[in-house]
Amino acid sequence: MIFFIDSANLNEIRQVNDLGLISGVTTNPSLMSKEDVAGKNEILDHYQDICDIVSGDVSAEVISTQFDDIIKEGHQLSEIDKKIVVKVPMIEDGLKAIYYFAKNKIKTNCTLIFSPSQALLAAKAGATYVSPFIGRLDDWAKQENTGLAMLSDIKTIFDNYNYTTKILAASIRNSQQIVECGKIGVDVITAPFTSLMPLIKHPLTDLGLKKFLADYKKNNL
Ligand code: G3P
Repeated sequence: MIFFIDSANLNEIRQVNDLGLISGVTTNPSLMSKEDVAGKNEILDHYQDICDIVSGDVSAEVISTQFDDIIKEGHQLSEIDKKIVVKVPMIEDGLKAIYYFAKNKIKTNCTLIFSPSQALLAAKAGATYVSPFIGRLDDWAKQENTGLAMLSDIKTIFDNYNYTTKILAASIRNSQQIVECGKIGVDVITAPFTSLMPLIKHPLTDLGLKKFLADYKKNNL
């Protein structure tokens, strides 16, 4: 199971990378703006800084919504580093751009996926990754596990037809959802720092360690 961090914060990326947890990064315009990255050159430099930290794919999202502009922006982003994956929204022009990028051997991540049919279309267009947003779908449906059910359906469809497009579960809200994604068998999860780090913790680990250290001290002080 591959882990990416959903963050544009260099300190967070470094911290989880140093733990061996992640092989890649996903970003979006909202995450980039949290880091106060603005202006074309600063944005491109920030993506390069992220690529310099991790060994795997780094998703950089286009802000264009018209086919010709998406193509131009996608080329600029993909020229930053070979780790860059062009993140494209699931809209008609986005789908057309994904098809173009696939033919030109440029990796893509189709974002803002909220249904199995959208995932299927992105796979047919040749997306490298599809990003179903599970947390936002739960919020919208006002029902937990709607997002996970969508992931299961996408997994079944992709397996039925041997699509090579990877399922990248996104919009993860907590650590338990990461475990559920593993049970479904998605290829990749992308999660924020605040959902990745609690995976380390269990209260019994802390209690057990406290007792081991106390018992050691009894005989060694
Ligand atoms: O990067 C895309 C996705 O993971 C966004 O998550 O938490 O803003 O719904 P969120």
